[in-house]
Amino acid sequence: MDNNINFTKVNEIDLPKILDERGNLSFIEAPRNIPFEIKRVYWIYDVPGGEKRGGHAYRELNELIIAISGSFDVTIDTGTEIKKFTLNRSYKGVYIPKMVWRSLDNFSTNALCLILASEEYKEDDYIRDYDEFISLLINK
Ligand code: TYD
Repeated sequence: MDNNINFTKVNEIDLPKILDERGNLSFIEAPRNIPFEIKRVYWIYDVPGGEKRGGHAYRELNELIIAISGSFDVTIDTGTEIKKFTLNRSYKGVYIPKMVWRSLDNFSTNALCLILASEEYKEDDYIRDYDEFISLLINK
């Protein structure tokens, strides 16, 4: 793991990039580049113009979001800070720890959003109500 990165916080990560005349290559190795075991990988694609995904937080799940192609915005809300990351490079990721409200929007044509997750899919882990999210943050 890269010790310069604080993985308890949201942050943009530069992934390794091997430049090559034959085409560039990037990779992710756990736990060197991300601080969790990858239990699930999923991707979002064919997003119609103007659509939004996400709009929830997770109780336990940590994740890394990458724009493998195209671009989109990741907006995070920690309860004290709202920040927007525009992802448009396949060697950049946004790391989002648990208990952060996050939404994805402004997808370009042919955007491909790859998400590496620390947990299997569990609906119980989702917090889909914003007021509940805030009250869980206050009462933690
Ligand atoms: P969801 O995570 O709610 O999408 P978004 O955050 O963009 O609103 O997922 C949409 C549906 O897809 C959800 O009802 C269940 C299903 N799903 C799975 O079965 N497995 C998965 O790994 C994910 C991410 C979703």
